[in-house]
Amino acid sequence: MQNQFIFFCPNIGNELYLKKEISLKWPHLHLAYSRPGFLTYKNSRTFFSLRELSEWDVSFSRRHGCCYGPTNQLSLEADLKKLRLQLDCGESALHIWDVQGSSQSEKGTTLAGQIILNVIQVKDEEFWLGAHFQNDLSSFFPGGFPPIKLPSASPSRAYLKIAEVLDRFPIELEGKEIFMEIGSSPGGATYFLLNQGHRVIGIDPGEMHSICTSHQKFTHYKTPIQDFKKSDLNQLGAEKIDWIAVDMNLDATFSIQQSLRVAGYVKNHLKGMIFTLKIPQAQQVEKISSYINRIQKFGFKTVLTGQVPDHRKEFTLIALKD
Ligand SMILES: C[S@@+](CC[C@H](N)C(=O)[O-])C[C@H]1O[C@@H](n2cnc3c(N)ncnc32)[C@H](O)[C@@H]1O
Repeated sequence: MQNQFIFFCPNIGNELYLKKEISLKWPHLHLAYSRPGFLTYKNSRTFFSLRELSEWDVSFSRRHGCCYGPTNQLSLEADLKKLRLQLDCGESALHIWDVQGSSQSEKGTTLAGQIILNVIQVKDEEFWLGAHFQNDLSSFFPGGFPPIKLPSASPSRAYLKIAEVLDRFPIELEGKEIFMEIGSSPGGATYFLLNQGHRVIGIDPGEMHSICTSHQKFTHYKTPIQDFKKSDLNQLGAEKIDWIAVDMNLDATFSIQQSLRVAGYVKNHLKGMIFTLKIPQAQQVEKISSYINRIQKFGFKTVLTGQVPDHRKEFTLIALKD
């Protein structure tokens, strides 16, 4: 059997996290090539179709798929033509992007259910060819870089993180929803959600920016999550929370434990949770499977993980009721 090569694109600086994750989940893959933001692995066992690969849950990657080797500007057109024939994917969308995300572009005609060709610029004169099957488990934008701009009024860059997560993951927001944000200060994510018309209850001992506190749809509960009780919900008039977003700069195990305790108060109505989990050391990647087990045991049917461009040593875990 011919070897298959699989590419993965973590955020730059997160390569060790991805390597650790792959060694745990797919130990038969062998690292073939590694550059900041771009790694390829050799698979000498059973071949995975692009569709099968697209269903892999990779916590430290924005985009992954099959890799077809390096290319260059001179041979690019011919290489793409050959690849289109090989994959029988006619005129399907072509994503041309660089690993830094400096050339964010529109999603064009990218459609779910299509094979998308990727031309990935890894360095100035270094380009690689890849392909992925587009489903709703990854961003429709080239390289997973949605062209979202940070408004100058945003209290923090967390505005981008939540916007990118809602772009990337299959989260259906039905009109105006009620969010609880645990770890909401200074307010970038809250500002994004308020701008989308949602109501937000922020729980954080830190100060919230006045652009949030002055908004009629925002309530700040200024306390550490450990001190938040069921009776506090009644006081806030917020027994029906649709979504809980969690973004605390705390140990992930503690963050999950405390957030699930509060989620238990509103379990019947809750649609899902959006965790940003900090992983200060690559070694801690080992614990991710236990986080997922804990969240599934709580009763969430779907648990997905992944990175968005503004994640630093962290990833998102999405827990959905259905
Ligand atoms: C990365 S910041 C959150 C950024 C915020 N989501 C935004 O949109 O600007 C982490 C926050 O976690 C909060 N935090 C730390 N320990 C906490 C606790 N025990 N309960 C609630 N919030 C906590 C910190 O006060 C800090 O504001």
